[in-house]
Amino acid sequence: HRRYRPGPVVNLPNRQWPNRTVREAPIWASVDLRDGNQALHEPMNVEQKRRLWDLLVRLGFKEIEVGFPAASRPDYDFVRWLIEEDRIPEDVTIQVLVQAREDLIRRTYEALVGVRRAIVHVYNSTSPVQRDWVFGQDREGVKAIARRGAEWVAQGARDRPETRWTFQYSPESYTATEPDYAIEVCEAVLDVWQPTPERPCIINLPATVEVSSPNVFADQVEHFATQISRRDSILLSVHTHNDRGGAVAAAELALPAGADRVEGTLLGNGERTGNADLLTLAMNLYSQGIDPKLDLSRPDEIVAVCTECTGLPVHPRHPWVGELVYMAYSGSHQDAIRKCLARQTPDAPWNVAYLPIDPADLGRNYQAVIRVNSQSGKGGVAFVLEQEFGLSLPRWLQVELAALVQRESETRGGVLDAAQIRAIFERHFIVD
Ligand code: KIV
Ligand code: ZN
Repeated sequence: HRRYRPGPVVNLPNRQWPNRTVREAPIWASVDLRDGNQALHEPMNVEQKRRLWDLLVRLGFKEIEVGFPAASRPDYDFVRWLIEEDRIPEDVTIQVLVQAREDLIRRTYEALVGVRRAIVHVYNSTSPVQRDWVFGQDREGVKAIARRGAEWVAQGARDRPETRWTFQYSPESYTATEPDYAIEVCEAVLDVWQPTPERPCIINLPATVEVSSPNVFADQVEHFATQISRRDSILLSVHTHNDRGGAVAAAELALPAGADRVEGTLLGNGERTGNADLLTLAMNLYSQGIDPKLDLSRPDEIVAVCTECTGLPVHPRHPWVGELVYMAYSGSHQDAIRKCLARQTPDAPWNVAYLPIDPADLGRNYQAVIRVNSQSGKGGVAFVLEQEFGLSLPRWLQVELAALVQRESETRGGVLDAAQIRAIFERHFIVD
C-alpha cells in the first residue's frame, strides 16, 4: 500500500568496504536508564534503577545516560542521589538528555549541581516530517532551535565552571533527515561550541526509527564523517533503533564507516523494538578478536538483573546469552561438536563446529552444550556418558545405546539427563 517511509540514500557508489580497519572497541554509552526506562510499561522504581546502575558500572561502562531529569521527577531524584551519595566512580561519566529548550536546559543544570563530570545531551528533531507536521518550522527555523539549544547548553556550563562538561548534540531522526541539511544543522551547533581536539564534543547520529538497511545507515555515517568540518574535534556517536531488526548490524557497520562511539542498551531494551543490544554487539566484536573492554563473563547475572529491573523476559535463543544458544540436540551437530572438542587444545585458536566461541568464555560449560532427546544420535549419548561418568563406549555400543535412548525419549518426550541415559545403559548392557 506504499504506507512506509524509506530513508534518504547517500550516493557513495565507489565505496570500498571496509575503508577503515576496526581494531578497537568503540566508546560504549549505555542508555538503559533513559531510552530503556522510558520505553517500559512500568518504569523502573528507585531500587531497580540503582541495581541496574550498579550492574552497568560493574560491567565497565564509562558513559551512562541516566535520564531526562528536566522532564521526569524520578529521573531528577535519581541524578541527585547519584551525586549526593557519591555513587559515580572517578572514571564514569553520567549523561543526561534534554530538549533544546531554555527552561529545560536550566533545570538540567540544577539537577547536575555538584557533579564532577557530566555529558549534557541536547537534541531536536530535524527530519522533514517532524519539521513540517510536528513543529511547523522550515529548515532555518529548525536549525535555529539547534543553535539556540547549543547556546543555552554552553551558557549553563559557563555558569558552573567547577564541573568538567562535555556537550553532546543529536539531530533526532538523523536517518530520515536530508544528509546535507543534517550536516548544516550540526555545523551551526559546532560554531557555538567551538570544540577542539583536546576538548571534543559528541555528535550523536540517531536512527530514531530504523527506516533503511544497515549498509545505508553506514553510508549515512560515512557521509557525515567525511563531510563535517572539525572532524578531529568530534567524537562521532551512533544511536540505532531496531524497527527492522537491524539495530546491531547498523551500529556494527557504522564502526568501519567512522563511528567512535555507540549508544545502546543491555539486551536491546528501548523504545518500540528497542535500541541496539550492546551485549550482542560487544560479543560480535569479541568473536572477531576485538576486546570489547566490557566484563561479559557472567551473562546469566546480566540477564537476571535486566529481567528483574525491566520486567522483560529474555528469549532463550537471544544471541550469545540465551539459555539455548550453546545447546545441540540434533545427532549430526552433537557428533561434530564431540569430535571437535576432543581435538581442541587449550592454547589453540577456537575451532569447534557449530560453536562460534568457547561457551566457557561466557560462563557456560560443555556438559550443558549437548542435550539428548529423540533427535540425538550416538555422538550426544557417548559425549554425555564420557563427560559425566568417564564411560567411554566402543562404536557398536554407542549405536545400539543411542537407538534405545531415542526410543525412550520418544516415549517420554523431552530431554533425558545423564543419569537416565546411564540407567538405560545399565538396564540393557550390564549383567549382574
Ligand atoms: O532515538 C532517539 O533519537 C533518541 C534521541 C533523543 C537521541 O533517543
Ligand atoms: Zn532512542
